[in-house]
Amino acid sequence: MIIAANFKTNHTRKSTKEYMAKLNSFVTELKSDDTVLVFPPSTALDSFDLNDKISVGVQNAYPSVNGSFTGEIGLEQIEEFTLKTILIGHSERRHVLGESQAEVAKKYEFYKAKGFLIVYCIGEPKEVREQGVESVIEYNFSQLDGIDINYENLIVAYEPVWAIGTGLTASNEQIEETLGLLKQKIKAPLLYGGSVKVANVKEIYEIPNCEGVLVGTASWDVDSFCKMVEIAKV
Ligand code: PGA
Repeated sequence: MIIAANFKTNHTRKSTKEYMAKLNSFVTELKSDDTVLVFPPSTALDSFDLNDKISVGVQNAYPSVNGSFTGEIGLEQIEEFTLKTILIGHSERRHVLGESQAEVAKKYEFYKAKGFLIVYCIGEPKEVREQGVESVIEYNFSQLDGIDINYENLIVAYEPVWAIGTGLTASNEQIEETLGLLKQKIKAPLLYGGSVKVANVKEIYEIPNCEGVLVGTASWDVDSFCKMVEIAKV
């Protein structure tokens, strides 16, 4: 399994440091073989001393080594901490911050060329889900425009927009059907994201074609995230 924590705009430098130390001892003691990814806010990036099962990544970065892109970070700032994992195309970047598919694809190309592990997010809004599964798949596939889905360091996270941060999880049947259809095109590991928590993570791990979860809200508490790593252990 792949268990990923997206802090979004939560945690400070200090609390992230404490979180990572606790997570690291937990994963080390558990002897987990699963992959654990943590995406802290960029102010909290650092070179953490971690078990090789855990990687830290960035939630976003500009497709440039450095330059004049006020408010953004680029490769130079990421490489300072020897990080090589990035989240691209998260629904909040697309729908709240207005990133277009062309911009998302540009970031993808840039960080792919640098060999990053890319967690690439796709997911339909509520009105598309209400039109039925065909529209859902068409919408999700349109978010693959300009994306090399055969890239070897790719993980795709399916996160229905209507289930993110809302407490509304897609039903297991909806997740299974959608992942099954996505899998026909995408060979990379597929994660599910959207209101995943300790109480529902086990059944989500068991869904066919689901190779892990991308967790927002429920990952911000380290004990809750550790529990989800523990549940993944077979
Ligand atoms: P959530 O967020 O777990 O709070 O729904 C998931 C995500 O945005 O990755």
